[in-house]
Amino acid sequence: MRSIAFLSIFLSSALAAPLVSWSPALGEFYAAVDRHIQIARQAGAINSPPTCDLSKAVMPVAPTPLPLPDPSWRLSEVVVGRGVQNYTCSLATKDVVPKAVGAIASLYNVSCIAANYPDILGMLPGLALEYALPADPVANLEPSNLALAGHHYFTSNGTPTFDMSQPRSINVANLASIPITDGSSGITKAKLAVNSTAPADAPKGEHGQGFGAVPWLLLNSTFGTTGDVVAVYRINTAGGKAPPTCESSPAYFSVQYATEYWFYTKPKTTG
Ligand SMILES: *[C@@H]1O[C@H](CO)[C@@H](O)[C@H](O)[C@H]1NC(C)=O
Ligand SMILES: *[C@@H]1O[C@H](CO)[C@@H](O)[C@H](O)[C@H]1NC(C)=O
Ligand SMILES: *[C@@H]1O[C@H](CO)[C@@H](O)[C@H](O)[C@H]1NC(C)=O
Ligand SMILES: *[C@@H]1O[C@H](CO)[C@@H](O)[C@H](O)[C@H]1NC(C)=O
Repeated sequence: MRSIAFLSIFLSSALAAPLVSWSPALGEFYAAVDRHIQIARQAGAINSPPTCDLSKAVMPVAPTPLPLPDPSWRLSEVVVGRGVQNYTCSLATKDVVPKAVGAIASLYNVSCIAANYPDILGMLPGLALEYALPADPVANLEPSNLALAGHHYFTSNGTPTFDMSQPRSINVANLASIPITDGSSGITKAKLAVNSTAPADAPKGEHGQGFGAVPWLLLNSTFGTTGDVVAVYRINTAGGKAPPTCESSPAYFSVQYATEYWFYTKPKTTG
């Protein structure tokens, strides 16, 4: 049963958030939340807790579709990632192309939204891009009060890593020293399997300015993974692309991005 209480938290925190600027996207977000509140009210679902059945969630499809999840996999978690993509430029000239060297992002739990409100989910990366990460690394994310679920970072040997074992400090230098208590999703060491260009109308960057949305991806889990995650999809990207050339770029720079990450697990074999 869809719940007004759940949606109200969503809407009131959105209204309380310090707005970077009013945008049509934010207007659409308010309208969608309000629409769902009306539907829930009509259904009499005033205070019932929402069910968050991820088996009902449907992953959006890229213009050039990524391979589908294997039917034996189970969707275990959907998060919004908000952070930066990093690049280097060996020379600040237009015949050199920026090289992607990793990313760092905070991951916010949107599983219940994915299960119940796909229209709202699709708006979140574009909205999240307009809000700076909170100074407190374990704080919730505006505009919708999303709870921290973990962190995404690259190890020193360049392995994309998703750490959902516990919400923890974003300071990568400290990560190794923090004791790990595995949650169900654990730590996923990933390897890029397939990429696909983002839709042409994806948010290009903060305040609608930027060089475009990074590709949608399928990442496979690889050696070093704790937990049961077999694949991670990067979906509905917003921003994150580097300029097409290194002309007048610094040697090292970061580009703000947001996205959804969809985590699939392989059921444990029993007996
Ligand atoms: C990316 O850059 C940010 C600073 O903008 C830094 O904190 C982070 O460690 C960098 N990560 C990688 C993998 O380069
Ligand atoms: C995300 O939220 C769902 C539903 O409330 C919960 O079952 C799950 O444990 C949460 N995951 C993380 C990593 O916080
Ligand atoms: C990723 O995993 C899928 C099956 O889960 C497999 O078909 C594919 O070859 C893998 N790709 C890479 C690059 O490892
Ligand atoms: C996407 O994959 C193709 C080959 O599969 C590769 O040539 C291309 O560089 C990749 N693009 C990005 C942005 O990773």
